[in-house]
Amino acid sequence: MTLPAPIRWRDGRLWLLDQRRLPDEVFYEEQLNARDVARAIRDLHVRGAPAIGVAAAYAMAMAWRNGDDLVQTAGELRLARPTAVNLEWAVDRLLHAASRGADLMEEARAVHDEDRAMCEAIGRHGAELIKPGSNLLTHCNAGALAVSHLGTATAPMYVAHEAGVRFHVYVDETRPVLQGSRLTSWELARAGIDHTLICDSVAAHLMAEDAVDLVIVGADRVTANGDTVNKIGTRALAIVAQYHGVPFYVACPSSTVDSTTATGADVAIEERPVAEVTEGIPAVLGVKVRNPAFDVTPAELVTAYVTEHGVVKNIGDG
Ligand code: MRU
Repeated sequence: MTLPAPIRWRDGRLWLLDQRRLPDEVFYEEQLNARDVARAIRDLHVRGAPAIGVAAAYAMAMAWRNGDDLVQTAGELRLARPTAVNLEWAVDRLLHAASRGADLMEEARAVHDEDRAMCEAIGRHGAELIKPGSNLLTHCNAGALAVSHLGTATAPMYVAHEAGVRFHVYVDETRPVLQGSRLTSWELARAGIDHTLICDSVAAHLMAEDAVDLVIVGADRVTANGDTVNKIGTRALAIVAQYHGVPFYVACPSSTVDSTTATGADVAIEERPVAEVTEGIPAVLGVKVRNPAFDVTPAELVTAYVTEHGVVKNIGDG
């Protein structure tokens, strides 16, 4: 199974897969400095919480190699997207490494390698949740494109598929940027995993028909109490899952857990350009639009978290 890599680091040079062009075109763009990377993060060339963290780690390493001001670079990177905690986690880790005189090239590589290992562990633990013939539902893209390898929500799918388990996945299209239809569907198709694309509003109907056995999503940040900040629409999905008695799992590495923030209410929710919502819809000219990119799913709606440590009921246990 060959999965698409969002980030390539070759001979000290950084290449990012431009995810805005997918699935039409697979195009890797070289990033020459940290400012390029900050722009690529802001404009969604690279997206998904762990992948943003890895890209930021390489950006810090390039700034260190160029002799740039690391504190200033860290500030610019942090501002690129406010919600995914992996971004500040990676930037802080590289700053600490610099303060103890470490080689930041090696540190960035370590962030990348650890991310890959965490996905593999999430996949091994989460695969236990996928029984033969089950119907899964996922939202956004918490796949290989969002991480270093295997993804988070998709990691159990890839591991189960490799083990010969046959199952089916409903993929929410994920308005407005369509990470589900453009990215997750593309990934699953390449891996040969049976899936069906649905509009975001279809999930409740399918659950009422008993057509969904479990929901599994990724996270941009899980706060100390287990509240989960993820792509807009996740909260609605968790509410309808609870109503219909469908288990709702959050797959995330420990780099996504923010134990310094008490609850989801304390997290800055990114508001993105309204053009993402209105593009191609001329009738909405002049209409007021809001485009929050994430929402908060309360901890009590999460059946369990799938982390590199196992499937755990409380995030503090993982
Ligand atoms: O705006 P995006 O595409 O970066 O949002 C991505 C998500 O919400 C993912 O579910 C999350 O980052 C987890 S990725 C493993």
